[in-house]
Amino acid sequence: MKIQFPTILLGLSAARAVSAQITEIHQEGPFALRVKGQAPNSSINGYFTWYNLKGVSAPSFISYEPLSYPMIGNSSFEWYFNYTGLIQYRGHEVGYLLANPTANTTTPSPYRGQPLDLSYKPNSNVGIALLGIGGAFDAGFDADNKTFSTSEFDDATYLPGVPPEYSEDLGYYRWAVCWELSGYYRQTLSWITVGEPHNPTCEFVDLMRVKF
Ligand SMILES: *[C@@H]1O[C@H](CO)[C@@H](O)[C@H](O)[C@H]1NC(C)=O
Ligand SMILES: *[C@@H]1O[C@H](CO)[C@@H](O)[C@H](O)[C@H]1NC(C)=O
Ligand SMILES: *[C@@H]1O[C@H](CO)[C@@H](O)[C@H](O)[C@H]1NC(C)=O
Ligand SMILES: *[C@@H]1O[C@H](CO)[C@@H](O)[C@H](O)[C@H]1NC(C)=O
Ligand SMILES: *[C@@H]1O[C@H](CO)[C@@H](O)[C@H](O)[C@H]1NC(C)=O
Repeated sequence: MKIQFPTILLGLSAARAVSAQITEIHQEGPFALRVKGQAPNSSINGYFTWYNLKGVSAPSFISYEPLSYPMIGNSSFEWYFNYTGLIQYRGHEVGYLLANPTANTTTPSPYRGQPLDLSYKPNSNVGIALLGIGGAFDAGFDADNKTFSTSEFDDATYLPGVPPEYSEDLGYYRWAVCWELSGYYRQTLSWITVGEPHNPTCEFVDLMRVKF
């Protein structure tokens, strides 16, 4: 379903809904984040953990671990999902992933936990996933528990002088595992905006929520 939307609402997102303090926030978790390479020859098959550099509580970094099972009772493997209930994609809640749920979040205060957000460089289409950097990346889970992201607009469809149409039907699965200088030089969770990854070490992956 497409509806015409005033351009003033451009940029509405789950994260914005939070900072506007519109409503109560729901939380699900903990669950583990399983990752599997999409290419038949990909060796990526394991879980994501988060970690801190010594003495620094934010940002938290994300590490790919080639394990058959998540470590039960180890908080590094524990992930949460916060959502407002105000935004859906094809009937699935849109919110954001979160770790370290009792940590003082950098923003928005007084919320607890470190939301997952992406950090971009001027010369790459690869966003590096980090926790507790002040923003939150829209995400949710489909019927197969695969993690998607959404956008309300697609600038590839824009025309001069014609305000774009809002859509709640733009879902994306662009997760990757890439070698990145993020904390340590490690394989970490990434998001490819469009096209082929600029970083040649990236492999597209499915990111799934699984029970412990
Ligand atoms: C998988 O195969 C493709 C096509 O042959 C190749 O380009 C790619 O580098 C391979 N990936 C890995 C991780 O071996
Ligand atoms: C928890 O998992 C992390 C990541 O694999 C590991 O570095 C750490 O030693 C584990 N902690 C415990 C108490 O096992
Ligand atoms: C978290 O923030 C609150 C309010 O600013 C403060 O009272 C509390 O000491 C902080 N807790 C930690 C563990 O830093
Ligand atoms: C996540 O949701 C929980 C439960 O409502 C809440 O205590 C916490 O502050 C929320 N954190 C963020 C960053 O939204
Ligand atoms: C998806 O994850 C939820 C929460 O962990 C679980 O209750 C549900 O059974 C899972 N569904 C599938 C299809 O794996």
